[in-house]
Amino acid sequence: MSSEIHKSRRRVLLGLGAIAVAGGAWWLRRSERSVAKAPAAIPATGATPTTNAVAEHFPTPLRVPGTDGLLADLPLTGPWELRATVAEFPIFAGRPTALWHYAGSHDGRAVVNPLLRLRQGQSFDLTLKNELAEDTTAHWHGLAVDEANDGSGLHPIAPGAQRRYHFTVTDRAGLYWYHAHPHGTTGKQIQRGLASLLLVEDEEELRLRTRLGLDWGTRDLPLLLADKQVDANNAIVYKDGADDWIGNRVLVNWTPEPHHDAVPGIYRLRLLNGCNARLWRLGFLHRGTQLPFLLIGTDGGLLEKPWRIDDLFLGPAQRIDLIVDFSAVPVGERVLLTSLDYVAMENEDDAGPLQRHLMADHPGAVPMGAAQDIMEFRIVPDRSTRRAFGIAAVPQRLCALPELQTDGLPTRRFRLALDAEGRWLINQWNMHLNGHEAMFRVRRGAREIWEIHNALASMPHPLHVHGFQFRVLSRSISPPDIRARAVTATGLSPHDLGMLDTVLIWPGETVRIVLDFSQPFRGTQRYMLHCHNLEHEDMGMMVTFAVDDDAPLLRES
Ligand code: C2O
Ligand code: CU
Ligand code: CU
Repeated sequence: MSSEIHKSRRRVLLGLGAIAVAGGAWWLRRSERSVAKAPAAIPATGATPTTNAVAEHFPTPLRVPGTDGLLADLPLTGPWELRATVAEFPIFAGRPTALWHYAGSHDGRAVVNPLLRLRQGQSFDLTLKNELAEDTTAHWHGLAVDEANDGSGLHPIAPGAQRRYHFTVTDRAGLYWYHAHPHGTTGKQIQRGLASLLLVEDEEELRLRTRLGLDWGTRDLPLLLADKQVDANNAIVYKDGADDWIGNRVLVNWTPEPHHDAVPGIYRLRLLNGCNARLWRLGFLHRGTQLPFLLIGTDGGLLEKPWRIDDLFLGPAQRIDLIVDFSAVPVGERVLLTSLDYVAMENEDDAGPLQRHLMADHPGAVPMGAAQDIMEFRIVPDRSTRRAFGIAAVPQRLCALPELQTDGLPTRRFRLALDAEGRWLINQWNMHLNGHEAMFRVRRGAREIWEIHNALASMPHPLHVHGFQFRVLSRSISPPDIRARAVTATGLSPHDLGMLDTVLIWPGETVRIVLDFSQPFRGTQRYMLHCHNLEHEDMGMMVTFAVDDDAPLLRES
């Protein structure tokens, strides 16, 4: 469907060999520059103008989960109903914006893209009615569910129809999310608004919360980050068959360019990169200098221990849980949540023509890899009588993850690459070419190592597996920016040490992950393995795999 557009965009491809050489040299040159800068502080001179200009740049107070409206906090205590529909909301100054969204009501109040709050072990029972003029679904990203409840494009909900999602929540506490996932139009539907957060809580999480003394909604905040391409009429625009959709506005909890008043103390922030394609190098800046923070969790919940870091890469669909400490920031000053510049490594074709093409669709958008401010915290006096605890309250040990036993496990190999027609492939497969049949079958209960190699003439792909959280075992042949972040002999950064459902794979890299295919379901369950750059996914960089009891056991290849 989109291959015509795709071909023309990548017309510049002359041959992959030549590109690999040219592209390789190009990124090596740029990486050296960037490594010289990282991880030390950003030069104060460069950052000063930004810091001075922020007052006008962040005019709107951040939306936090409330009782109604956008991002309402909704404990899912019983059967629920949401509608996928379209309505206008005042998001930007001036005209309202049409948003595709999940609508429901709670105690007589309208909730819009609610943050769904769940307890581990509870039953999830939600009926989605499709009031759109096209197929849709709701996918519970990161949750371990069966195929019927996974909301993938295998089970679309037709216009006017509805579907009941009903399962038991077995996942660890963590920030998950939900979004539309129809084959071929996920990028459009998410860009137009069909996505929100899903918070799972368990005993361990509630104990940590008590220990930190941070109130949910004030000192413990979810931040749904997403860039949108917005036109002069405040409409969110999208082009079918687009490539790598990046936007000219960044919304945090549906607030454009927000600020949040913060007291000098610690804050817990749970971030989702809800962008279609944009990859960020996230950090905090105070007076142009990086303010380090503690990384305490990833996609699938808490890390074993907190890691003090300056910044990290967060790809589309990835989540992090962090503690930032403003206690040394004087009242009246500001701290920026920002994306620092990095080498975008879009090596798949001649960077010049590609950038021009992309920017034509995204007037005003910050190019991938360029510095981009997201929101600011304004430090105000603490007038509360109830003192929260300081950074010392963060336990040195957060949880125990299961021991990584990998001896004797078989390895399944994947290769991510671009073909001469400009189509992204996973092991030579592309869903538009090869269809929805399972590319491979996995024996239920088996454990496997997946070794994923990304071609050098490629770009970073946030690869996502449905149905199973996994652990990362190693990264090799990583670009310099990634190598510089390694804290293990196997090349892993702190971010790689948690439970993940989405992992960034950089050009040239080989990443090994380990998955456990134990699950309580029966029969054949089909899941998706795909790139979460939504335009790659929609253009077929997605395969189906099946889990069942009689799949042949994988033997070492
Ligand atoms: Cu976030 Cu296949 O999904
Ligand atoms: Cu998913
Ligand atoms: Cu991709």
